[in-house]
Amino acid sequence: MYSVDEFLRIDELEVVGKTVLLRVDINSRVDGGKLHMTEKIARHAETIVHLSERGAKTVVISHQGRPGDDRFITMEQHAELLRRFVNVTYVDDIIGPAARDAISGMWDGEVLLLENVRILSEETLARSPDEHASSIFVRKLSPLCDIYINDAFETAHRAHASLVGFPMVMPSGIGLVTEEELGSLTKFVEMEMRGRCVYMLGGGKLGDVLPFIKNQISSKSSIILTAGRVANAFLSAEKGVESDVEDEYVRLAGDILRMKNAEKIKLPDDVALNVDGERVEVPVDELSKFGNAVRIYDIGGRTCDEYISILRSADAILIKGPAGVYENEMFAEGTKKIFGAVANMNTFSLIGGGDTTTALNAVGIEKSAFSYVSLAGGALLKFLSGERLPALDVLILSKKKWQNKL
Ligand code: 3PG
Repeated sequence: MYSVDEFLRIDELEVVGKTVLLRVDINSRVDGGKLHMTEKIARHAETIVHLSERGAKTVVISHQGRPGDDRFITMEQHAELLRRFVNVTYVDDIIGPAARDAISGMWDGEVLLLENVRILSEETLARSPDEHASSIFVRKLSPLCDIYINDAFETAHRAHASLVGFPMVMPSGIGLVTEEELGSLTKFVEMEMRGRCVYMLGGGKLGDVLPFIKNQISSKSSIILTAGRVANAFLSAEKGVESDVEDEYVRLAGDILRMKNAEKIKLPDDVALNVDGERVEVPVDELSKFGNAVRIYDIGGRTCDEYISILRSADAILIKGPAGVYENEMFAEGTKKIFGAVANMNTFSLIGGGDTTTALNAVGIEKSAFSYVSLAGGALLKFLSGERLPALDVLILSKKKWQNKL
């Protein structure tokens, strides 16, 4: 497990007049090319404001989406949304002369937001931190900056150039978001070790969630409730329910169901379908009546009741991902009921994932009703599994190398 003491904290670094390269994660929901205002943007803005008010020249970098998907857009709209909190100049470049000249000419307190780092093909190459440190990306920007701060805890499980390359060559620390995440998640792990933990796992990112379930079912006292695409993957594997879940994930779900202790994984008993624009609740065993490629939009009422009664028996609760297609009011019911029930429990509750926090706002539940709302999804699951996070490991190395030289 990581401890905050292993890192240089933003407040331990002298930043006035210094050029700080700040890696945040403001990767947010996009609909029809329009970026939504999210909790991620608001929370990361606090670190930017903090640096700017302390007189740093802050150069902000982030990714948004993945090349080829609908969320892969430029950072122009992010700059607009960040301007609600702080004066930010958007630079349509990362390593070219436009970005380098803009950085060299900054004044104390100024904030620049560079372009989406994933437009650089070097960013996501499968390379070691040393190899990323010698990328053109790192070689172009590091001489222009004095300090690197990684506040992108949500992406700490990725070994990308903007995350692991810079700490190899410059003094590096963590920002306010990463510091808060480390402190709160450590508290959850302590609660989890002491009692019975119930995980409510929905949403979409199966590549993050299924390996977590595989890892977690060996822990004696946990129960895993499934919804969304996570449930779809298991239903396809167990009952042959047709879905749009990729074959590799259906196969992985099937492997997990054959493991010892797989009875800890609960699948929905009934689900809600969209039949000619109406919500229709159907027992899972009757899904075949609705043709081959049925799409499940939500968990059904019976499943909600059963899940809520299991959640009541928990000593600690983790919710990651909504229970259904909450963006459509008709299918937000499961998410509303489950989130609402947990919000009223006294149990230690951790709710995580960028889309989960967006869902929380959409169904109108205050985040203060939960013990902690994490911005992270995949990184959160890896942290809770006790795995090492590459972007954090390099920051620990950087502290060892630089702490007596600063
Ligand atoms: C997230 O939204 O989980 C993080 O921003 C990481 O995004 P990624 O899965 O595209 O790396």
